[in-house]
Amino acid sequence: MKALVLSGGAGTRLRPITHTSAKQLVPVANKAVLFYGLESIAAAGVTEVGMIVGDTADEIREAVGDGSRFGLRVTYIPQERPLGLAHAVIVARDFLGDDDFVMYLGDNFIVGGITDLVDEFRRTRPDAQILLTRVPDPRAFGVAELDSAGQVVGLEEKPREPKSDLALVGVYLFTPAVHEAVRAVRPSFRGELEITHAIQWLIDAGADVRSTIIKGYWKDTGNVVDMLEVNRTVLEGLERRIDGEVDDASETVGRVIVEAGARVVNSRVVGPVVIGAGTEVRDSYVGPFTSVAENCRITDSELEFSIVLRDSSIDGVGRIENSLIGRHVEVTPAPGVPSAHRLVLGDHSKVQIHT
Ligand code: TTP
Repeated sequence: MKALVLSGGAGTRLRPITHTSAKQLVPVANKAVLFYGLESIAAAGVTEVGMIVGDTADEIREAVGDGSRFGLRVTYIPQERPLGLAHAVIVARDFLGDDDFVMYLGDNFIVGGITDLVDEFRRTRPDAQILLTRVPDPRAFGVAELDSAGQVVGLEEKPREPKSDLALVGVYLFTPAVHEAVRAVRPSFRGELEITHAIQWLIDAGADVRSTIIKGYWKDTGNVVDMLEVNRTVLEGLERRIDGEVDDASETVGRVIVEAGARVVNSRVVGPVVIGAGTEVRDSYVGPFTSVAENCRITDSELEFSIVLRDSSIDGVGRIENSLIGRHVEVTPAPGVPSAHRLVLGDHSKVQIHT
């Protein structure tokens, strides 16, 4: 069995972060989202991984390398444009050969891993198996309809009137039967070859398509709100660990990680929080559900429910909440007179200013 990990895509919903970097590498509790997926693939006993890459190929290659760090052997498969999940299967045809495979969307986050699912598939070996989860509003997802025996009878992509509350999670198991299906489907109205259409094609051809409803936590980290939410969930599971320096004038409360080489000076940190190596928090408050990556400076500010990527500084700006801040960002106060905001924002940036 092999794995096909999708790490291309456009990432339009995470702009401007994705103008300059891969969305699969945005950190959750200071570890790239993609790495959690690779770890669960390795834990399921799959070692051969094909990695679909697009415009951000170099960055993904640099981060993942040959995969040996995860106990994996990674082969990179360029996809010239993000033409859809079924298109990714087409470009991976040579790599996949006639093996069964698990397809994993590189920006999806699943607590509890995929080991049980992969084991079940190996045992029962239907033509395809999908993962489902109950969601309050299925209209933003691929939605499955099941018969009374739990067999999948239909799939719809972002339906206006969903036939169930069962949304497709970004992990799929396939036998080589999928190759005929991905070649048979035509581009959807959004111009992509949809994997849901390929699975529907299999169902219509009489194939055995089964589903598993996961009980654990799942999120697609495609937008900022979900990204912060996943970060919150992962931070909640942290164990307190202070490897860096915390001075006597500071207080760290609850599940706080201060990595070796980080410094907390005259500050209050209320967990769950992770402070990356080389970062300094000075004269500040860092509140729950916040991840600050490596080599940042948080000075004379308050930060809560946020993710700050590496090499950024926040200095003397009062309180920041619910924010995703990219790499090498500087947030500083404007001069007092005139009373105005001064901004240098990349394309598609979003700023909410307190007035
Ligand atoms: P999506 O989140 O569905 O698509 P996207 O990355 O283009 O994002 P957005 O909707 O914000 O523009 O993709 C799911 C995962 O699959 C993600 O990790 C990117 C990857 N992907 C590919 O590798 N190739 C593709 O052709 C597509 C559509 C996605």
